Amino acid sequence: MRPLTPTRFVEFDPKTLSELEGRAVVQITPEGTLGQAARTANRLTKGAIARLVEAKSFEKTKAGDVISLAWPAGMKVEALDVLVTPRKLTATEARKAGAKLAALGGGKTITVLAGSMVKAADLALGMALRDYRFDAHKSSQDSTVGEIVIAHKSPAETETAFAPMAAVAEGVHMTRDLVNEPANVLTTTEFANRLVEMEALGLEVEVLEEAELAELGMRTLLSVGQGSDSPSKVVVMRWNGGAADAAPLALVGKGVVFDTGGISLKPAGGMEDMTMDMGGAGVVAGTMRALALRKAKANVVGLVGLVENMPSGNATRPGDVVTSMKGGTVEIINTDAEGRLVLCDVMWYAQERFKPAGMIDLATLTGAIIIGLGHENAGVFSNDDGFCNAFLKAAAAEGEGAWRMPLGKAYDDQLKSRIADMKNVGGRPAGSITAAQFLQRFVKDGTPWIHLDIAGVASVKSATDYAPKGATGWGVMALSRMVQDLYEDR
Ligand code: BES
Ligand code: MN
Ligand code: ZN
Repeated sequence: MRPLTPTRFVEFDPKTLSELEGRAVVQITPEGTLGQAARTANRLTKGAIARLVEAKSFEKTKAGDVISLAWPAGMKVEALDVLVTPRKLTATEARKAGAKLAALGGGKTITVLAGSMVKAADLALGMALRDYRFDAHKSSQDSTVGEIVIAHKSPAETETAFAPMAAVAEGVHMTRDLVNEPANVLTTTEFANRLVEMEALGLEVEVLEEAELAELGMRTLLSVGQGSDSPSKVVVMRWNGGAADAAPLALVGKGVVFDTGGISLKPAGGMEDMTMDMGGAGVVAGTMRALALRKAKANVVGLVGLVENMPSGNATRPGDVVTSMKGGTVEIINTDAEGRLVLCDVMWYAQERFKPAGMIDLATLTGAIIIGLGHENAGVFSNDDGFCNAFLKAAAAEGEGAWRMPLGKAYDDQLKSRIADMKNVGGRPAGSITAAQFLQRFVKDGTPWIHLDIAGVASVKSATDYAPKGATGWGVMALSRMVQDLYEDR
């Protein structure tokens, strides 16, 4: 993966402003009050910032806007970026401001004259998150920011605050790379290899191959991958940063590297988007990376089911009946409802082997969740209010949209099968909820569980606050924070 743009923290000194190269960032308030560096810049430019504030157009300027003055007189920089924000920024305002600055790209150094800004580390995080491109398959690379310099009155403290944030940003970038990667490159084998590479970060990584999965009885998972030439795999990643006897949090991800729908073939239009159907596994991978990089004091195990859903002479047919690892039978009405067939075996295995303190699964599971919640919120389903609220709180703090959805027996009844213990679809009504009900049948009594349907948020067609269009990395920040809130801050 492309490394994060290097970020340096240096002592704040407005006297250096005239000599800086690339771009320089100074702060003014929406009321037009100039910060210390802005006053210096105003003097160097013989009043350019004062004229900007007095101009009629400044009345329309909102907090969070960036006004760029190109080739300012009296300075060496190519552009002076005037950041309009309240004097005291919240963490979210600082992140959004950083993201706006990073979106300017340009391949040069950006020096942010942050002075005594309390949330300067968050501003740097916003820059790191937004300073992302997926250009691995382009012959000419788009430029990101060349180098980020934060000039601050307490550079060492700001740098210390930024270190765990950089770990999380790197996890987000990894998730995005995996989700953006096409399926001929990111095969199940390549995906597993990229996870094994994370052993270098101190994670324990195991790859379970088809023979072992068959031995374990994971027939529903194997039924999804059996039409593909790429072998199905389950990868287990363990981060043991907590007490030796503490039960881990289990993260389980749907990793369908491509979803054609199988014999229940999807229509051609938009099918290329199904390269992102491993988004749940991508978030699990990125979160494990973040936890390892920031050396989280918690035990977390990440499991991903890696399969490809293809039609072929060996593919599962609609009407086939398969037995899950748990032991019940499933009538496969629609081979395009494959995610739940992958997850149910991996979730069962996770609980049998690790007896987790809690389990969170993530999946680009249903188109129906996009109809319900659009691209703003992931669907959240849970059997435990306390556990669920901890996630919702973490997601809100990180600005990752998440909205709780209901579960209930009447929905579960939609899964009754004439010939098997259950069927894999519950019909058109409440498609996301019946998918969650299917999964809940594989959650043991007493395991706090959250299911996150991320079909609408994993990859989007227009840029978000923190990401260019394409993969967002949604969930890595919320999960990393939840791990900290629940298991580290004690
Ligand atoms: N991977 C899809 C869900 C999806 C749709 C993800 C759009 C991202 C964007 C999933 O495997 C699927 O095909 N679900 C079906 C379920 C149906 C057959 C019950 C769906 O949503 O149509
Ligand atoms: Mn499908
Ligand atoms: Zn799918």
